[in-house]
Amino acid sequence: MEITEKNIPGYEKVIFGSDHSAGYHGIIIIHSTALGPAVGGTRLWRYPNNDAALTDGLRLARGMTYKNALVDVPYGGGKSIVMDHGNGTDRAEIFRAHGRLIESLAGKYITAEDVGTSPADMEFVLQETRHVAGLQGRSGDPSPRTARGVFRAMQAAAKYRWGSDDLRGKTVAIQGCGHVGYYLGGELHRAGAKLIVTDVDHERVKRMVTDYGAVSVPLEDIYSTPADIFAPCALGGVINDQTVPKLTAQMVVGAANNQLLEPRHGDLLEGRGILYAPDYAANAGGIINGCCLEMMGWTAEQTAQKLEAIYDTLLKIFDIAEREHIPTYKAADHLAEQRLVGALNTATVR
Ligand SMILES: NC(=O)c1ccc[n+]([C@@H]2O[C@H](COP(=O)([O-])OP(=O)(O)OC[C@H]3O[C@@H](n4cnc5c(N)ncnc54)[C@H](O)[C@@H]3O)[C@@H](O)[C@H]2O)c1
Repeated sequence: MEITEKNIPGYEKVIFGSDHSAGYHGIIIIHSTALGPAVGGTRLWRYPNNDAALTDGLRLARGMTYKNALVDVPYGGGKSIVMDHGNGTDRAEIFRAHGRLIESLAGKYITAEDVGTSPADMEFVLQETRHVAGLQGRSGDPSPRTARGVFRAMQAAAKYRWGSDDLRGKTVAIQGCGHVGYYLGGELHRAGAKLIVTDVDHERVKRMVTDYGAVSVPLEDIYSTPADIFAPCALGGVINDQTVPKLTAQMVVGAANNQLLEPRHGDLLEGRGILYAPDYAANAGGIINGCCLEMMGWTAEQTAQKLEAIYDTLLKIFDIAEREHIPTYKAADHLAEQRLVGALNTATVR
């Protein structure tokens, strides 16, 4: 394994690993270990070039620092990328090589599954390092927990905006009926909400219609169809110059990562009086599941309590935004930064 390191301001460590015999090229990015070992998944993706992979990884690793700080778990933020060269990937070879790169960091970085990787891949990583979570038969599929967290975030937003967290009779437009979208549909259906859904996959839409009485709309209509809440549960960047003017909902609360194409789109939402539940606060259920249940050994009850508390975190964010006259996405960053600075001060005192 050839390992090279690159000094990138604002990041603790960035390493590149290559194992030509395994067909492996990977990057591990540690943004911060101020709160503890950096935790963040491994993404397998086909990028146009190495720079694009690094740019994506840097943004994702920083996001993990903020998400873990906001959730208040003793972990920092990191991410890793395995380059998908699309030429008959031997997953065992590649993920074992990735495990060796992780092992070279001696526990400063802990990985798990992410886009393009599965618990089975993490088993290959485990053959080379113990610094891996998201294993088969452990904390399990995070999607139901992520959906529950998004539901709690919606209740908090409803409480803040409408004075009651009862979602009965409210209409929620869900974009993406995949893992999280489907479980979120179940939570909302049981709470008496009405669902409008869309997905590129018709079978997934059909399941929401059959199981939860959802009304399906064409892909582009999901923004403009009258609804109380818009729930992005498919792709990032869907809150942008084209979509914000179309939105009919009074709030945006969903699971997708990086919903704002650019930070300024959070200001655009604010300008239109649309309440935004910052994505990394609303979708933290998965990380709570992985960190608390699997890595910290909490009981299911303790973990569930932490998950339910997403409600309180969201109310806190809305309160900071109101008091400081700032958009909610900035308020979430401020809350996370307060915890990071607090941890750094404690470390200095010690
Ligand atoms: N799974 C988790 O626990 C978790 C945790 C945190 C964040 N997230 C984020 O939440 C989002 C959903 O995650 P998931 O696990 O449900 O993924 P998924 O792949 O199971 O579901 C995504 C769905 O979106 C659909 N889709 C793709 N393009 C679309 C489009 N243009 N319009 C409408 N639908 C489209 C896909 O067909 C799929 O059904 C992702 O952005 C993910 O990064 C997921």
